[in-house]
Amino acid sequence: MDHRFNRWRSFAGALLLLTFFVVAVGCAQAVQYPQSTLHPKGDFALMVDKLFHTTLVWATIVFVLVEGALLFVIFKFRGKPDDPEPKQVHGNTMVEVIWTAIPALVLAMIAVPTVRTIFRTYEIPKGADVLQVEVIGHQWWWEFRYPQLGLTTANELHVPVGRTVALKMVTQDVLHSFWIPQLAAKRDIFSNRSTTLWFKAEEAGDYPGQCAEFCGIQHGRMAFQVIAQSPDEFDVYVGRMKATAVKPAAPAADSTAKPTAAASALTTTTLAATATADVDTMPGSQLFMMKGCIGCHSLNATVPMGIGPNLAGIGRRLYIAAGWLENTDANLAKWIQHPQTVKHGVLMPDLGVTDAEAQSLVAYLRQH
Ligand code: CUA
Repeated sequence: MDHRFNRWRSFAGALLLLTFFVVAVGCAQAVQYPQSTLHPKGDFALMVDKLFHTTLVWATIVFVLVEGALLFVIFKFRGKPDDPEPKQVHGNTMVEVIWTAIPALVLAMIAVPTVRTIFRTYEIPKGADVLQVEVIGHQWWWEFRYPQLGLTTANELHVPVGRTVALKMVTQDVLHSFWIPQLAAKRDIFSNRSTTLWFKAEEAGDYPGQCAEFCGIQHGRMAFQVIAQSPDEFDVYVGRMKATAVKPAAPAADSTAKPTAAASALTTTTLAATATADVDTMPGSQLFMMKGCIGCHSLNATVPMGIGPNLAGIGRRLYIAAGWLENTDANLAKWIQHPQTVKHGVLMPDLGVTDAEAQSLVAYLRQH
C-alpha cells in the first residue's frame, strides 16, 4: 500500500511540474515570439483567435469528460485476481446512437462558427475609406504599392490604425504566402491569379510578417514589417514618400531627416565631380549610377521599378534585405558590398564595391 502511495505521489509531482512548465512557456510567449498568432492585434486575427478559443473550449470539455469517464471506468471496474469471467455483450444500439449523436452535435457547434468565419475572412472590403494595397511577391522580398496614393515601397508596409486595408496579391516568380500572424491569417500568392486579404490594425505597433510558403533557398529570409501608426503619423509618412519624387538632392523632401548642410554639400560635390575623378572619392549619388544600382532600384516612391526593391525611405526602415538585417550603417555597407554572402542567391550581384565606396553609398542612401 505504501509503495503504491509513493508511486502516486511522484506521478502527481511530475504532473504538477509539467503543468508549471506549460504555463510558464505559455506566459513567456508574448515576449519571446512576436510572430505568435496568440496575440492578435487586428480584427481579422481577433476573429480567427475567437474561433480558436471556441474550438479549444469544446475540445477541453470533450477531453475532460472522455478522459474522466475512462479513468473512472479503469479504476472502478479494474480486475482482481479472484474475479469471475465478465459478462460478454455484443453491441448496444442505445449506446451507439448516443456516442454518434454527441460528437455530431459537438462538430456542428464548431462547424457553424468556422464556416461563418471563413466566409467573413474571404469578403473583399469595399468603400472609399478602404486603403488599397497591391502586394507583389519576389524571390525574396515584398513589393507594396498603394494605387490610391501612387506610391511604391518594399518590405515595410505602413498602415493607419483603425482603417481597413485591402490587399490584392500576386507573385512575380514562384509561389509565396503572405502572413502577418498578429493581424491576419496567411494566404498563398500565385502568378496566374490574384488573391485577396484584408485586415485592420487595432493597435499601433510594428508587426513582423513572413513568407509562409517554401519559395527557394532564401525563403526563411523573406520577411517584412507592418508598421501600424496613427492616421496623422501615416499622413506624415505618405507626405515624406511623395516628396521623394523631388530630386534626391533637394533637402525640402524631408527637412527633419535630411541634414540640410550635408545635402547641399552633396549637391555641390555632385556638380563638381567629373568623369576623371577617382572612383573611391565619388559621392554616393554618382556611385549609385556608376555601379549600376539605379538599373534596378528606384529612389523615387512614385516610380515603381519592380526589378529590385524601391529604396525610397530606405534611410528610415527598420530592416534591410527583407527583414534579414537591422538597418545599421555597418549592415547596409555589408549588404551593398557582399550581397551574395549575406543572402546567397538574390538577384543583386557582387559589384566589387570597395569599403570607401560602400561608405559613400550608405551615406547617400541614409538621406533617402
Ligand atoms: Cu517567399 Cu517563401
